[in-house]
Amino acid sequence: MEMTTGLHAAFVAVVVSFAGWLLWWWNELWYAVPHNRRQTDGGAKLPPGYMGLPFFGEMMTFLWYFKILRRPDDYINSKRRKYGDGVGLYRTHLFGSPAIIACTPSANKFVLQTESSFLLVWPSLEIVGATSLVAVEGASHTRVRNFVVRAINQPDSLRKIALMVQPRVIAALDLWSQKGRVTVFNEAKKVTFENIGKYFASFEPGPVLDTLDELFKGLLDGFRAYPLNFPGTTMHRALQCREKAMAIFREELEKRKKFGVGKDKFDLMEGLMEVKDEEGKQLSDIEVLDNIVSLIVAGYVSTSLAIMWAFYYLAKFPHVLDKLREEHMPIAKKRNGDLITYEDIASCKYTSRVVEEIIRLANIAAFFFRTANKDVEYKGYKIPKGWKVICWVRYLHTNPDNFEDPMCFNPDRWNEAAKPGSYLVFGGGSRICAGNMLARLQVSVFLHHLAVGYRWELVNRDAGMTYLSHPKPNDGVEIDISKI
Ligand code: HEM
Repeated sequence: MEMTTGLHAAFVAVVVSFAGWLLWWWNELWYAVPHNRRQTDGGAKLPPGYMGLPFFGEMMTFLWYFKILRRPDDYINSKRRKYGDGVGLYRTHLFGSPAIIACTPSANKFVLQTESSFLLVWPSLEIVGATSLVAVEGASHTRVRNFVVRAINQPDSLRKIALMVQPRVIAALDLWSQKGRVTVFNEAKKVTFENIGKYFASFEPGPVLDTLDELFKGLLDGFRAYPLNFPGTTMHRALQCREKAMAIFREELEKRKKFGVGKDKFDLMEGLMEVKDEEGKQLSDIEVLDNIVSLIVAGYVSTSLAIMWAFYYLAKFPHVLDKLREEHMPIAKKRNGDLITYEDIASCKYTSRVVEEIIRLANIAAFFFRTANKDVEYKGYKIPKGWKVICWVRYLHTNPDNFEDPMCFNPDRWNEAAKPGSYLVFGGGSRICAGNMLARLQVSVFLHHLAVGYRWELVNRDAGMTYLSHPKPNDGVEIDISKI
């Protein structure tokens, strides 16, 4: 009897151990072994790595480093320790797909510049808008991109935008100082959205803009949601929000087609409606609308986060704020209460270094994705067709091999250019951020008015950090602010 129980227990132990072993190695057996077996026939092998559990892959490990330990860069460091530096590629399984992580400048350069092999694929085209810049490819991408970049990212448009955004920035800072204590992230989102409303479609603060703000919150949730579209899902709600936001912009567009706009009005909608390509062709209505919506998605939270980090770092590094003041006081004097211009901002060399350093350390886009559309070989390693490639750019910006003392906020490091390929905050290749100069401009405008008019302190100097979905102090940067 005792012997039977012992045998039974041993059998159960063997089965459980085998099941555990199988679970642990399932993804390796399923995805990696077949690819690596082909290597014996002379093909390239997969980069080193571990592909995690069935379905979840390495998500738990990822969350462990990002959410529990709150040391996101140690996720990559642990791989470097385990598998060596190699060529800067590791295999894994993340966000529901087998994937290759690229975490060195040369590996990222290879991915971003081999555009015929690595495509930007969206889980749902409906959510980004099928004709928007972020969704189209090849010649259509170049065409739409030229339109958009001309409308928001080149000196002619930035000159107008600099003047257009300032009244709201000035009014917001004034209001914050009257309140005394504010949470910068929440307030920065409000002023950024008001400015977006103004220079995208000349909407003034009021019920329409408030509705749009709510709709965009719902829409943004859809970007992180599983692409399941039926009533009750986040994706379903996001698509409904998108439809309603599109309807508001469509109404405005129809109005303009019927009645035109005032001569003094310049905004993105007008720019996109009017701008022509080399053959004299204009964008269709749906292209105008899709692009307005996707540009708001791309620029709204990202810009608000950059502004939030500006307050944070300048409060922590007052000597940088002092140097900014030195640069901006003469401009304020020269302008004597008038708005500063794009040229004023462009002349501020130290400010541009501060902006770069804020954006480097903010790591707003920690990584972005491509999908291999064929088997690709890189330095003897294979990136299989259909796998995701994760351009892990955060690691480029926090790796001491690329930036000395990388976690230190030091604008003076920008006295010299970054090592080639080590600074990809705005991505690279033909999909490099279409609003990068606009984002820099908006942070610079804030820096000017802050430096010449305000003092502030962090309420929680030692607030902890969250890293998902974007890096942010837990309190959203609560400050006490007053006029100088
Ligand atoms: C600090 C703020 C910002 C950061 C860190 C940022 C970052 C990025 C990154 C990393 C990409 C490349 C994504 C990829 O390759 O998959 C990108 C693309 C893009 N960004 Fe930004 N962005 C910012 C602000 C803005 C603003 C203000 C706008 C416009 C209003 C904008 C519009 C776009 C667009 C349209 C693309 C897609 C370009 C294309 O596919 O050709 N971004 N951004």
